[in-house]
Amino acid sequence: MDPVTRLGVVGCGLMGSGIAEVAARRGLDVRVAEATPDALEAGRRRLVSSLDRGVRRGKLSEEQRERALAGLSFTHDLSDLADRQFVIEAVAENRDIKTEVLRTLDKAVEDPAAVLATNTSSIPVVDLAVVTERPGRVIGMHFFNPVPVQQLVELVPTLLTGADTVQRTRDLADQLGKRAIEAPDRSGFVVNALLVPYLLSAVRMVESGSARPEDIDRGMELGCAHPMGPLRLLDLIGLDTAQAVAESMYEEFKEPLYAPPTLLRRMVAAGHLGRKSGRGFHTYDA
Ligand code: 3HC
Repeated sequence: MDPVTRLGVVGCGLMGSGIAEVAARRGLDVRVAEATPDALEAGRRRLVSSLDRGVRRGKLSEEQRERALAGLSFTHDLSDLADRQFVIEAVAENRDIKTEVLRTLDKAVEDPAAVLATNTSSIPVVDLAVVTERPGRVIGMHFFNPVPVQQLVELVPTLLTGADTVQRTRDLADQLGKRAIEAPDRSGFVVNALLVPYLLSAVRMVESGSARPEDIDRGMELGCAHPMGPLRLLDLIGLDTAQAVAESMYEEFKEPLYAPPTLLRRMVAAGHLGRKSGRGFHTYDA
């Protein structure tokens, strides 16, 4: 099959803008959809400033930046994705929102062979597939933050995903310069199933007063050579996203190790969401 040239990305938050950036840098025609003009403008600004940063750091030339920008278009109407061959949704980690997006995309994207991929971190992919008329063409394609840096993509076929869809998604991952692993359609897939209990354990350590955030982070950075400790990583992921992921995993397995600790819930309620709000377990400049 011909490689994907026309990609759609729904959602231009941390993940969506990263996915769109990587695809545009690889020469794809990328149309990005957001729900509102304000969200779209914020996403566009995030994406452009990431490209600028790439130029400043010598990762791409001015010309490559211009070419990537020329390949990007933005819309707040999902029907503008009608001609896409492959669409990745990366909207908020919320079952109702994702269900609605998949249902609308299924109607909007004209080619019945086009693949609809979800970047969900923890919602069973089959639950999203069955709301469409093309469940064989729905798959999980789970990227990692920051998308331009992390090499991995988890491919998550459901019981209904066709083998050709898995291959098409694997090929797209290659086009994007990512390395793929296949992961089971169970909440958390492979990586979050291992990572989330560890992150939540760090929150419980803070909650119980047994260790300070900076010591926990330094411990894992210097003791285990992790690029960042668990609380800094939670701040990067976003505490609201981490809470949503933990809730999905808890709902699926009912294991206490996945239950979001009270401190995490209170921080989310207070708007301490991590880097994106300027404050989480650590504080950040605007
Ligand atoms: N976009 C593009 N490039 C970026 C970037 C971004 N947002 N952030 C960092 N980089 C690049 C820098 O340009 C730099 O490249 P260079 O070394 O070639 O110049 C390199 O990454 C290192 O960046 P910095 O020197 O600024 O900072 P650090 O060395 O502290 O690295 C980090 C930052 C890449 C975020 C690193 O700390 C890291 O890899 N942390 C772990 C992240 C992680 O575990 N992610 C997975 C989260 S789980 C997830 O996403 C799943 C979801 O479902 C919850």
